[in-house]
Formats: sequence, structure tokens, C-alpha cells
Amino acid sequence: MKKLLLLPFLAALLILAACKQEPEPEPEPKPEPQDERLYTPSATLKSKATFPVGVAIQSGRIALNAYDQVIRGEFSSLTAEYEMKQNIVHSSPNTYNWGPADAIVNYGLAQGMRVHGHALVWHNAIPNWLSSFSGTNAEFDSLMKYYIKDFVGRYKGKVASWDVVNEAFEDGSGAWRNTLFRQRMGADYVAKCFQWAHEADPDAKLFYNDYGAEYDAPKRAAIVAMIADLQARGVPIHGFGFQMHISYEGPSLNTLTQAVNALKATGLLIHFSELDIRANPDNDLADLSVARAQAQEAKYKEIAALHKSLPAAQQFGITLWGLKDDDSWLLNFWGNPEWALLFDRNFKHKIAHRGMMEGL
Ligand code: G3I
Repeated sequence: MKKLLLLPFLAALLILAACKQEPEPEPEPKPEPQDERLYTPSATLKSKATFPVGVAIQSGRIALNAYDQVIRGEFSSLTAEYEMKQNIVHSSPNTYNWGPADAIVNYGLAQGMRVHGHALVWHNAIPNWLSSFSGTNAEFDSLMKYYIKDFVGRYKGKVASWDVVNEAFEDGSGAWRNTLFRQRMGADYVAKCFQWAHEADPDAKLFYNDYGAEYDAPKRAAIVAMIADLQARGVPIHGFGFQMHISYEGPSLNTLTQAVNALKATGLLIHFSELDIRANPDNDLADLSVARAQAQEAKYKEIAALHKSLPAAQQFGITLWGLKDDDSWLLNFWGNPEWALLFDRNFKHKIAHRGMMEGL
């Protein structure tokens, strides 16, 4: 009888025991979902490349540790994005603003990097005082002669190469742009500028730089004709810069190959001088999708391989026009979201970097 009385207590104990289960083990922390637009490289651009790989920089950024780390780790060449242009350097008739240019050149040399000078003569970087210069054409010539000789001479033996003239031809027609330089210095202004730069530093490699030669056949034909004329006259021109502002959509590899072959035939050094590859040319994305990042990756691989296909003696290198996506000029220029470069806003390697590595 007594045992019967105990049954309910025993049952209660069993129920209690069953309820007092061991706490669930903490679930394993789920690993962060892999961002398929990023990756962890096993090597750097400069260690993989058989030619210089550069980046356009601004003096204020090289002072920042995060920029410094990536620039020194990944790149072997530097271009000033805007601080070695006439409107910054030749800020008034009788004064030069060497500060930012010195900072960039000294930083590059300290890291054992090549420094490419950009750009001595460009209609979009004319200082206001020169635009309104009221002196004679001969005095204008003299101003430009001393500016070029003073600038190139200052960095003799330091700046390895220069974009002497940038963007001298119209889009679509191949006509000469009627720039202030052509108006004031005459039709042969390009030859004059190359000659003055050469006299200031005979060892510097002198480039003509432009956009559109990648896909604009009339402009490309005009550039090739100008180069042939300069070469025939013994004007010291050593290279051509394809700016390479392109997109994941194009130009096609076939079009790019035709363009590069046309300039390769001149025998000049070839620089892919301002490479960026738009992922959002049609403004159809608010954020970089994995698929679009993969398409961009493929295009970077194409471009690196295309440069590598040049004769070694003509491979001047590839320069990215900015370090990370949110640094790009494209954001202001087009006014829509864009992720055109190799690093994201947090200095993380995008798979675009992997694409470039695979092409190198
Ligand atoms: O950093 C200053 C900032 O301190 C100041 O407050 C602000 C307002 O004046 O200006 C800032 O500097 C600007 C700089 O970009 C950095 O953002 C300059 O005004 C602006 O003129 C400069 O624009 C550059 C542009 O060339 C004109 O020089 C772009 O960075 C640069 O990407 C662009 O590059 C050109 C190539 O030289 C030639 N090929 C085309 C390419 C794109 O336009």
C-alpha cells in the first residue's frame, strides 16, 4: 500500500527530471556568409606581373596608413591623379606649386616605384591666368617652353616618363581639338612640347595619352597618323597611353585587340594608363551584384592578358585609375553608383583583383 502512495511522487520526480533537460548546446556561430564579390589573394599584383602595375594617387591619401599599406604592397608604379597638372603646378605666372608633386615623387622613389608624370599639356587643366593670357603668341610659346622645361627639369632622373600631351583629338572625327595650345602655339604645338620635354630630360620616356583609341576608329587613325609624322621628323616620342576607361560590357576583346595592334605597329611603348572597368554603365544596379562582379573580373583578366600579349619591349605597364571603388572619378562624372576598381571601399580585394592576377 505504502508503495502505491509513493507512485505520484516518483512520477513527479521523473517528470521534473525530464523537464530539467540539459541546456541546448550553444549553436555553432555561423561563419559570416562569404561575400562572393571579395577574395583573399595569395600574391600581389606586382609580384605576379612581368611589367609595372601602377595606381593613380593623390598626395593627401599616401599619408594615410591604409592607402600606404596597399599601394606599397600591390603596385610598382605611381601616377599623380591630378596634382602634376598645369592648373595645380603652374598656379600663377611666376610661381610653381611643387608641394603635392614633390610629395608624390618622393614617396614613389622612397618605395622604389616608378613615377609617371601626368600630364604636362591638357586643355582640361589650363590655369585660369593662362586661359586669359593677353600676351603675344610668341610670349605664350615662351611661357609653355619654360613651364615644361622647369617642370621636367625639376624631376630629371626622378620621373621616368611623362604624358606630354593629353587628348589632342576630337571624339568620333579624329579632327584636332582646337585647344588654346593649338590656337596660340600653332598646329605643330605637339612636336614643340615633346622637343622641350626631351631637352629637359633626354632619358625620360615621352608619351602621347588619350581615351577612345580603344574603340573610336577615326580618332585612333588620327593618333596613328600623328605618331607616324612625329617619328618621321625625329620628334622624340617614345610611347602611347590608352587610357582604358572601359566597362564590363565593352569594348569587346576583338575590338580592343584591333586597337592595340594598330598602336603596337608604331613600335612605341604601350601604356594602359588609366584603367577602370565600370560595373554599372547602365545604372541598373544600386549595389554591386555577384554576377556583375564576376563579369568585371573577367574583363580585368582580359585586359591584363591583352597587355601581356604585347612584345615585352613594348609593355610599359597597366595603371589603375584609383585604388578603391569610392575613390573613382567616375562617381562624380556619371553621378551613379559605381564599383570600377580592384578594391572595395574598405580596402578589401575584390574578385576584379583575382581576374587581373589571372591575366597577368
Ligand atoms: O582634393 C581637392 C579638394 O581638397 C578640394 O576641396 C576640391 C574642390 O576644389 O578639389 C579637390 O581636387 C579635385 C581632385 O580631382 C580630387 O578629387 C580637383 O578639383 C579636380 O579637378 C580633380 O579632378 C581630376 C580630373 O582629372 C581633372 O584633373 C580627377 O581626380 C582625375 O581622375 C581626372 O583624371 C583624368 C585624367 O587626368 C585624364 N583622362 C581623364 C581622367 C578623368 O577625367
